[in-house]
Amino acid sequence: MEVVILSGSKPIAALAADAIEALLRRRPDAVLGLATGSSPLPVYNELALRHERDGLDFSRVRGFVLDEYVGLPPGHPESYREVIRREFTERVNIDPANVLGPDGSAADIPAACRSFEDVLRGAGGVDLQLLGVGTDGHLAFNEPGSSLASRTRIKTLIEQTRRDNARFFGSLSHVPHHVLTQGLGTILEARHVILIATGAQKAQAVRDLVEGPVAAICPASVLQLHPHATILLDEAAASSLRLADYYRHSYENKPSWQGL
Ligand code: GLP
Repeated sequence: MEVVILSGSKPIAALAADAIEALLRRRPDAVLGLATGSSPLPVYNELALRHERDGLDFSRVRGFVLDEYVGLPPGHPESYREVIRREFTERVNIDPANVLGPDGSAADIPAACRSFEDVLRGAGGVDLQLLGVGTDGHLAFNEPGSSLASRTRIKTLIEQTRRDNARFFGSLSHVPHHVLTQGLGTILEARHVILIATGAQKAQAVRDLVEGPVAAICPASVLQLHPHATILLDEAAASSLRLADYYRHSYENKPSWQGL
């Protein structure tokens, strides 16, 4: 796990976009794992800018959305498939047919989850997965207590997560109780994961995920088992880390050939 502490969202977005750009230059048909929430938005803005300004090409890219609310009709403004369309894919030249999320409006939910996993596997798996983290340490919508080996499935949201996400729905009562989410085992199979956390409200979750035990009580701690996990933090999100100075020192002295 590499922890990189930067001065704010702009340099974080630039670094994550550099990693994605390098991947696309190496592999134009790369598979991107797309996360919602506020944390990845500056990255999507940066990628849209590079597409417009530099012609960064997404025409052969495939995208898989991490998670989805259950019961929102397709096209609902807060459905994650729609958020990803609005915030990212319609701003670059990704073919909409190449973007898939778990289908939270399916009549047969277990079958929809299996089919999502099958298509993801058929695409060769995710090359680079963007991630945020919940204030309770959830990853995608894997709430505390999730199996570290879990696959895409239905989960019930913890009330804290519903309260955190109520800002998008206008009122808590409109936030669904159920969601579909890639499992922790599914996420672990991505070849590179980049988790972004900013702000003091994430400091405890960041400390637990980076320096705590690997435990279902902090689902994001499963990333300690990932061979290529990059954690991008601002100063506030990094403020509870015991080894913050060591992470800074390591990044400042990183061999130039290493990349992210
Ligand atoms: C939601 C999403 C997660 C996201 C989390 C944090 O619950 N399902 O994928 O990481 O919120 O969101 P934010 O980045 O807005 O803090």
